[in-house]
Amino acid sequence: MAKITYIEHDGKEHTLEVADGTTLMEAAVKASVPGIDGDCGGACACATCMVFVPEEWWDKIPPKEDMEETMLEFAENAEANSRLSCQIKAAPALDGMRVSMPKSQH
Ligand code: FES
Repeated sequence: MAKITYIEHDGKEHTLEVADGTTLMEAAVKASVPGIDGDCGGACACATCMVFVPEEWWDKIPPKEDMEETMLEFAENAEANSRLSCQIKAAPALDGMRVSMPKSQH
């Protein structure tokens, strides 16, 4: 279980308890967090689940695989700290993580 805070582009925060093994996208969609659509259902094919991950969490999440890397290359508003939240599974090490969404996702 990890407590994850999702921050909308306007600063509004949503904190969820995400079960281990559940992706951050799945948890956000289930809780109707604005800014995470997950249109492709987690297939790494839409980038509507993009989040910005602060640098201090980078070593606690798995590195990007090729598909995610490619999606992010083409994603509008992607930054160096962008990740697809459908590729990040909750785990105790992520407890307290805060991610934010771009203005283009709301
Ligand atoms: Fe489509 Fe993450 S849900 S890329």
